[in-house]
Amino acid sequence: MINEQNIRILLKNRPNGWPTEDDFEIEVSQIPSIKEGEILLETMWLSLDPYMRGRMNDAKSYADPVQIGAPMVGGAVAKVVESRSPMFVKNDIVEGRIGWQKYAVSSGIELRTVDKSLGPIQTAIGVLGMPGLTAYFGFLDVCEPRPGDIVVVSAASGAVGQVVGQIAKIMGCTVIGTAGSDEKIKFILDELGFDYGINYKSEDICESLDKFCPDGIDIYFDNVGGELTDAVMDRLRVGARISVCGQISQYNNSQLQLGPRNIGSLVRSQAKMEGFLVHAYSNKYPEGLDKMSKWIKEGKLKYKEDIVKGIENAPKTFIGMLNGENFGKTLIKVSDD
Ligand SMILES: NC(=O)c1ccc[n+]([C@@H]2O[C@H](COP(=O)([O-])OP(=O)(O)OC[C@H]3O[C@@H](n4cnc5c(N)ncnc54)[C@H](OP(=O)(O)O)[C@@H]3O)[C@@H](O)[C@H]2O)c1
Repeated sequence: MINEQNIRILLKNRPNGWPTEDDFEIEVSQIPSIKEGEILLETMWLSLDPYMRGRMNDAKSYADPVQIGAPMVGGAVAKVVESRSPMFVKNDIVEGRIGWQKYAVSSGIELRTVDKSLGPIQTAIGVLGMPGLTAYFGFLDVCEPRPGDIVVVSAASGAVGQVVGQIAKIMGCTVIGTAGSDEKIKFILDELGFDYGINYKSEDICESLDKFCPDGIDIYFDNVGGELTDAVMDRLRVGARISVCGQISQYNNSQLQLGPRNIGSLVRSQAKMEGFLVHAYSNKYPEGLDKMSKWIKEGKLKYKEDIVKGIENAPKTFIGMLNGENFGKTLIKVSDD
């Protein structure tokens, strides 16, 4: 018998523009009981990701919106604390879409057992989970890098961007990262080995791009969209590849900005621009995990996590992440390991 209560973070309102903490409700309730075939999970680590902003809208997308009054969606690492299922036993560590809740009941169907030999368990929702795999396949498969390519990656200190830039270095490319603070730029240069960094908040992006890539850009890994992407599009080399991973600069606009405005650049440069969703690569995840865990063990791939304790801090931390207050992969430590 667990001598505790459950905490769930529910969607209270659909935000118009930037979300606020009032759009979430922190609900304290009894820990649910399980039926035959079910397991009870205690969340240990919760991942906060930009896509969750889209789930707060009642809009057509590649996934259904979160219903008002329902727990926010989210990937998490959890411990099996009770099992009435043949699939899992007590103390198994699993990863899956468990949501913003301390305790959750699951059938276990969409959970995977975390391979602790690959790295610390929270990496299963970070560098060795959805964000890392996004970087791996979104860069290697969509951008098809070649040694010597000039690569620009936006949101370069974040969960996806930091991995993209390092894989680009492993592939022999020259890498320019953009990020929103001098501290983040110092990190990608000194710790991750990027060649150049641009603080897009304090520098003239066009001038800096012209300085660091005077002959143009072969690959753009686009995490943000907006003006940064406009600036890159004007500097594409012939045969450039653009991986449209995300458009975070647009997620909190109450009015959709129409575009793209400079698509003629694709004609001039005979470039390829391709959007992708990481889930499309799910049958190849083992390949990506195997490769990246080896790179981590060899010291070729580093990762920075931004850890906040306590599930009740998830709304504030999530809003901060959308605003660039995170430094690395945003994680909530829900319970002790
Ligand atoms: N296609 C897929 O399957 C897939 C999967 C995962 C993630 N994604 C996308 O990948 C992108 C990065 O996700 P992540 O998990 O790695 O997040 P993250 O980079 O760890 O965090 C988000 C970062 O976005 C930056 N940002 C926010 N507003 C911005 C703006 N107006 N202009 C420029 N940068 C801005 C902030 O960094 P700064 O301080 O640098 O501004 C913030 O730290 C997101 O667009 C996300 O939706 C796509």
